[in-house]
Amino acid sequence: MSGLDRRSALKGAGATAAALAAAPLLGGTPKTPSPHSLAQAKGLRFGSATAALDPLGGSVSNPRYAALLEAEVGLLVPENEMKWQALRPGPGAFAFEPFDRIAAYAKARGMALRGHTLLWHRDQWMPAWMKDYDFGVRPAASAERMLRAHIEAVTARYGSQIHSFDVVNETVMPEDGSLAQTVLSRAMGGTEPLVDLAFHVARERLPGAQLVYNDYMGWEPGNEAHRAGVLRLLEGFRKRGVPVDALGLQSHLIVEGKARPQERAWRGFIDAVTAMGYALLITEFDVRGNGLSAAVAKRDAEVAAIGKAYLDLMLSYPQLRDVLVWGLCNRYSWLRSFEPRKDGKETRGCLYDDAFRPVPLRAAIAAAFAAAPKRTG
Ligand code: G3I
Repeated sequence: MSGLDRRSALKGAGATAAALAAAPLLGGTPKTPSPHSLAQAKGLRFGSATAALDPLGGSVSNPRYAALLEAEVGLLVPENEMKWQALRPGPGAFAFEPFDRIAAYAKARGMALRGHTLLWHRDQWMPAWMKDYDFGVRPAASAERMLRAHIEAVTARYGSQIHSFDVVNETVMPEDGSLAQTVLSRAMGGTEPLVDLAFHVARERLPGAQLVYNDYMGWEPGNEAHRAGVLRLLEGFRKRGVPVDALGLQSHLIVEGKARPQERAWRGFIDAVTAMGYALLITEFDVRGNGLSAAVAKRDAEVAAIGKAYLDLMLSYPQLRDVLVWGLCNRYSWLRSFEPRKDGKETRGCLYDDAFRPVPLRAAIAAAFAAAPKRTG
């Protein structure tokens, strides 16, 4: 039995944090209590994105990655498998198998599950067939039927297992805070009616679920218009009586040395969001440090420091209860293919390195949970 397998077994047996601390080694590195156990002690949850099928990727079908998930997290979210791009091979077709795999995996291990996402409102991330879809002579009715059918099918299949959905993802344009327009929103006659409908249908189908608007506005300079646009959207939801419970803060942090995070403006943004009664989630945390020096120890330290500073700030808000990372291991992170370093060195924005050894970011996350105020109720 590997060290990780033993840890999982211990965890399954309800081992205490002290027992976990004394558990065997992972990749030759001493292990400390899992971020999830530390989070749980504070009434929080720690989760990760995962893929479904790739036996050599960051997926539940890769035993090495699955062991990491089982040791470290209590909450899963599909990295791609619930998106239209994956679920909808054609206008009338659904391909549920990959996400079924994640759902079955989570259920068998007693792990909670989030839904991402019922509507990623950008043409770029919709299936190719959508581009030329003929919405007919009554396009608004046809678009409404299509969105309803999609949300009804997904919630009917997974609604009993999923307590929290990113109903709409990224409908605010970062450049000027306007609302994205897509084939679907044009057919519908506007973005507001489309995104409002998504939340109304989700609420009809899942009266008890947490319905989330998810976006990537951040605390770095350059996010001013994006933050303002998200605030306008959230205000609009309240005015129109749209059932939205929480804001998902993706939190793909950027650390490039020179640009300091705008901490005051960020607090102002979060204060405004919570003042409207929205809960908060960190949905896709990782650190983009590609402009940092190639020296691994220095880079890891800077990534860990920014991660800790951000989590400390965010965990001071009692409205935040779930923290999810966008993958646990650098080897499989989206950053590797989407944002490779110019010098060809490996990206290091996750908790584990390519050899499955914990990097300082993991200890930083653990320390942030250990220091977090306890949630009650
Ligand atoms: O599955 C196909 C495979 O069959 C095909 O051979 C291959 C060829 O390119 O593509 C595979 O699909 C890729 C998929 O990831 C699975 O690996 C898509 O091309 C690729 O676009 C997709 O990228 C994902 C991206 O969202 C777009 O959906 C990333 O993995 C995923 O990490 C990223 O996640 C997003 C969140 O959903 C929203 N917030 C930002 C975040 C990072 O971009």
